[in-house]
Amino acid sequence: MRLIQITDCHLKADPDALYRVGPARAQLEAVLARVEQLSPDVVIVTGDVSDDESPASYQSASRLFSQLGCPWYWIPGNHDAPDFMREIRDINEVVDLGNWQLLLLDSRLCGQAGGELGQDQLQRLAALLEEDARPALIALHHPPVSVGSAWMDSIGLNDREAFWQTLVPYAQVKAVLFGHVHHAFSSCEGDVQVYAAPATADQFLPKSDDFALDEASRPGFRVIELHGVRLTTWVERVDI
Ligand SMILES: [Fe+2]
Repeated sequence: MRLIQITDCHLKADPDALYRVGPARAQLEAVLARVEQLSPDVVIVTGDVSDDESPASYQSASRLFSQLGCPWYWIPGNHDAPDFMREIRDINEVVDLGNWQLLLLDSRLCGQAGGELGQDQLQRLAALLEEDARPALIALHHPPVSVGSAWMDSIGLNDREAFWQTLVPYAQVKAVLFGHVHHAFSSCEGDVQVYAAPATADQFLPKSDDFALDEASRPGFRVIELHGVRLTTWVERVDI
């Protein structure tokens, strides 16, 4: 089973618009051309699909993802308008990956850059894990750990402690995937592996106290391969 994580596309209604310095739509197309070569079984898009919350941005994103020819799923980020997303495609909660399960969380907090899951969603997450013991991946937009950048850590997941507490009884959770940080990241929290994928749009400079672009870094994505109860993962980048 090969899962590919795409994140932070930041498309605008104008297909030629720049996100910050790079052409977001052309960067996404370059990423998807490489993704297609890798023949993923499933693609998960972890938020900030749009930058301007326009229906047109979601329509073009959906068209491009659908051209991959595999099942794909999306969750909202802080720059997204979930109502427009749902008009085009459902925002799923659970994805069946055969021997594995992928649980999708909505960490968007209306009008804020930071995120939160909330007690109701955490209770729902616990209930899902209670009823299905298959190895699990969890995906959300906001980082549930510090990534070592002061400005970014201040707009991460507000209720990260409650999130990790929720997972304590469920050893089947193997990894958590997130976006938002616009750079590759990996660490672990206890026995759970924690990964971010690079944005398909412009990259941010890792381990920076203040916001800064990383103009030397290229757009990319993360590949996750599931084998038995283990996973392997790597990041790929594209030239544009
Ligand atoms: Fe973003």
